[in-house]
Parts: sequence; C-alpha cells; structure tokens
Amino acid sequence: MRCPVPAPPAGRYVSVNGPILVTGGTGTLGRPVVRRLLDDGREVRVLSRRPRPVEDRSPYDWATGDLSTGSGLDSALADTGVVIHCATSGGRRDVDGTRLLTEAARRAGVTHLVYISIVGIDRVPFGYYRAKLESERLIENSGVPWTVLRTTQFHDLIAKISQVQRRLPVTLTLAGTSFQPIEVREVADRLVELATGEPAGRVADMGGPEIRGTADLARSYLRSVGRRRPVLPLWLPGRLPKGLRQGSHLAPDRAVGRTTFDEFLSEARKREGLSAEGRA
Ligand SMILES: NC(=O)c1ccc[n+]([C@@H]2O[C@H](COP(=O)([O-])OP(=O)(O)OC[C@H]3O[C@@H](n4cnc5c(N)ncnc54)[C@H](OP(=O)(O)O)[C@@H]3O)[C@@H](O)[C@H]2O)c1
Repeated sequence: MRCPVPAPPAGRYVSVNGPILVTGGTGTLGRPVVRRLLDDGREVRVLSRRPRPVEDRSPYDWATGDLSTGSGLDSALADTGVVIHCATSGGRRDVDGTRLLTEAARRAGVTHLVYISIVGIDRVPFGYYRAKLESERLIENSGVPWTVLRTTQFHDLIAKISQVQRRLPVTLTLAGTSFQPIEVREVADRLVELATGEPAGRVADMGGPEIRGTADLARSYLRSVGRRRPVLPLWLPGRLPKGLRQGSHLAPDRAVGRTTFDEFLSEARKREGLSAEGRA
C-alpha cells in the first residue's frame, strides 16, 4: 500500500558556529548524515569509539570517545554548537550514553542537540524502545535546546532481517505484521535540515512511502538477491509481537519517504561490487 505524501514542514535556516558533531557518524544513518553535511559545506566532526582509520582522508574532523564511559566527550564537544546524536549500542547503554552526552553538552554550551528516535517507542513494549523513550526524556530535560525526530524502520534493517537468515532453509517472518521502511539518506537529509535550523522540540514523525507485510518484504528481498526460499510467517505470542501486529510502529499519516523498499534493493544490487546482501 503506497501512502499519501503530506508536504514536510519548512525549517528555518540558521548559521552554525564550529563543527557539527555527529555521534554514530560511522553507522548506517551517521554516514549519510556526515556526507550530506559535507555536501552542504559544513564543518563536521565524527565521534567514534575507534581511532580514525589511517586510510580515511575524508574532509572531516575525528574525535575518539566512548558514550558508555564518557571518555573523550569533552574534547569531542569543544567548540561545537550543534550535535546530531545517532549513536546507539542498544538498551540501557543508550540511556547512560545519552545522559553523559547531555551533561557534557551542557558543560560545553551546546546550542542545539538533535536526536534520532523511532515511531511508536511509547506504544510498542520493547526494551530497546523503552531506552529510546528514556533517552528522549533525558534530552528534553537536559537544559540543552533540542530537536527530536522519530522515523519508521530503515530499509537496511528490513533487508537485514532476511539477510541474517541466509543459512536457513526458510525465511521466517512475523505473521500479521507490517513495516513502513524508509530510505536512510532521506532521514539524513531531514536531520541535517533540522540541525541547521532552530531547535524545534519534537517534530512531525517521518515514515516510509509504503506499508507492506513482512512476508511480502521478505519475498522482495529474496527476489532481489536471486535466492529461492519459502517464506514462513510465524504467529508469535507476547506483548512485542502483539504491539507490532497492532501497527503501533507505523506512521500511515506521515508517509513522507519517497524511495520504496524495492527501489532500495535494486539500487543496492546495481552498486558496483555491492549486492543487496552486502549493503544490508
Ligand atoms: N535502524 C533503524 O531501522 C532505525 C529506525 C529509526 C531510528 N533509528 C535510530 O537511528 C540511530 C542510528 O542507527 P543505525 O542503524 O545507524 O546504528 P548503527 O549502524 O548500529 O551505528 C551505531 C553507531 O553508534 C556508534 N556507537 C555505538 N556505541 C557507541 C559508544 N559507546 N560510544 C560512541 N559511539 C558509539 C557506532 O560507532 P563506532 O562503532 O564507530 O564507535 C556506530 O557509528 C539509532 O539511534 C537508532 O535507534 C534506527
């Protein structure tokens, strides 16, 4: 089902002093955020737990630091005005990391903290989502001016759900469940638009262009990588599968994404030396 597409709200463009720090700038979302900032001529600093790879000659600054301990955060934040917080290591660690980041951001006088979150975290009973909600609350109450964007699942994640099952004779899916996947570059564009505007609080959610059943998505994936395999929908008990069956993670009224899952898969396959499996 392709959803109607409401126009995204226009953001006001403000000047940004110093580099924009991207936590998680090496991740699935962070990489296109960094690219988009560079394309816009912005100064960028990437926060990573690892030292900068020697072969990396990209025109951005690199700060080694760890959100789980707070090490390196003060120097990563020095002279930055804006932070785009994309890092995640899952569950409680995200809450602790966000707490340390907001404390360091307040000390550093950060003027805008932008956070990427997920549609339905307040409705779907899932530990990771509870941690995202708690992280949102920390940011809202941090005293640092903030913006929070919630989106639906990225295409990459939906492809990965099938890709990790490549050694199984069947591909398992959640019965009675749909997803509304979105292209991560479109999320990155919106985050950059928000980060270069005034702090806006919680902004309108962003969903992908189509809502499709999990088995249908899995079949698309299998077709795109040329693999023949039965798809087996499983009806799982429990609160999380029930929450997903109820569609609490979907944003049908905010289907602003443009790139469909099939377009994502075909682009991934066309990429030189990179199959849809590779990118996932
Ligand atoms: N995936 C989805 O479908 C989806 C949908 C909506 C929203 N989101 C949100 O989007 C954000 C990015 O997700 P993603 O899929 O891009 O994640 P990802 O690919 O798993 O990347 C995670 C990033 O976090 C960094 N990181 C992890 N632990 C860290 C730590 N202790 N200190 C500093 N950096 C740390 C990693 O950097 P290093 O390894 O270089 O240290 C990496 O760059 C997350 O907040 C997620 O909840 C995801």
